[in-house]
Amino acid sequence: MSVSDPIDRLLDAAESGKSLIKNRDILHFTYIPDNIQHRNLEQEQVTQSLLPILKKSRPSNLLVYGKPGTGKTLVVRKVISKIQERVEKSNFRIRLVYSNSKEETTLYGLLVSFGRQLGLTDKELPTTGLAISEVFKRILNNINENKINVIFVIDEIDYLAQLISKTGKDILYQLTRANERLNNGSLTLVGISNDLTFKEKLDPRVISTLGEEEIVFTNYSVDQIKKILKERIEEAFIPNSVSESALNLCSALAGGEHGDARRAIDLIRVAGEIAERQQSENISEEHVREASQKIEENKEEASLKSYPLHEKLVILAIIKAGGSSTGEIYSSYKTLCKTVGRDELTQRRVTQMLSEIELSGIINGRLINQGIHGRTKKYKLTISPEMIKKAFKDDLTLQDII
Ligand SMILES: Nc1ncnc2c1ncn2[C@@H]1O[C@H](COP(=O)(O)OP(=O)(O)O)[C@@H](O)[C@H]1O
Ligand SMILES: [Mg+2]
Repeated sequence: MSVSDPIDRLLDAAESGKSLIKNRDILHFTYIPDNIQHRNLEQEQVTQSLLPILKKSRPSNLLVYGKPGTGKTLVVRKVISKIQERVEKSNFRIRLVYSNSKEETTLYGLLVSFGRQLGLTDKELPTTGLAISEVFKRILNNINENKINVIFVIDEIDYLAQLISKTGKDILYQLTRANERLNNGSLTLVGISNDLTFKEKLDPRVISTLGEEEIVFTNYSVDQIKKILKERIEEAFIPNSVSESALNLCSALAGGEHGDARRAIDLIRVAGEIAERQQSENISEEHVREASQKIEENKEEASLKSYPLHEKLVILAIIKAGGSSTGEIYSSYKTLCKTVGRDELTQRRVTQMLSEIELSGIINGRLINQGIHGRTKKYKLTISPEMIKKAFKDDLTLQDII
């Protein structure tokens, strides 16, 4: 076995090298820590609000708001799991169901996931083929027949609000008023939203029934983030592996905008992985800086990947045409469409797309005076073409031009 073998070298290092992270699961966003800091009031409020279920009466619907990373999911899940523990010891018919709209990207999917967790089988509730109102009816029948008291948590409900169609809006309304249709059992909804303005996107009737009670999670301060992070580090990393300056920088970066605890934990996890890979003794400020950059790049890459085909073609057209005018971009876009065998969209539509893409910040537009030819807008990329090509390379349609 040769020591210069690249695979062996890495495997040897992994075996002999210290790992800085003791338990990776603790750094995962689904991990529920024993101790939830700075959130006693919120834990009490959520518990108070759901408490009637233990007394066999129906809690009010509840809406929980707050910026991302302020501990909403954590607190609600913890309250739910504590109630669940008690329920299992009693023989009340209570069901607590959690689902996330970001994972179930349609209202149909969300309802099916809800039904499944209530115990409806594939036969009673097929994954496709039913009208959404029928899915809903079957779920209500099940609750009614079995006389169960249900709490249904819809996390990241703001995603759902963006996605749903007109029928969806109606179902959501019916969902909030389900109790009127139940003779036995009950249904309480808990909506969690990262978006404070999402109310504007929902039917006011839905809001007034969903928001029978409301709890707002305020932003963490940099200092609070630091305490949360410190405790998590003690659980997840080997002792003394994170420098004080790395801890401070993570807290400052994550606390900067609105106190995002998830960002702080992500930063230290990625910094830890980078430090392990470099076989460093501990995690330094520099590792946190690298982590921050890597996370930003991944975010950019993910948002680039999510563009529809023609937006991607327009972005590639900007690369091909260089810092150029709408007209030049359009003609380069048309050539690209021919190469990939797709019909081109109108110049008007492409101009509109350019403004939309500009909002995301990956391109930058500037109005240029052209004397008697009037004014034109010139666009420039703000990120490297390599980054864009890397993000688009898995798109089969684009392979010939990348
Ligand atoms: N008060 C807290 N104490 C300990 N960990 C926390 C606290 N608040 C948030 N976290 C952690 O930060 C991350 C984000 O929290 P989460 O509840 O998912 O935020 P939200 O749902 O508001 O976006 C999770 O890993 C969570 O465990
Ligand atoms: Mg959440």
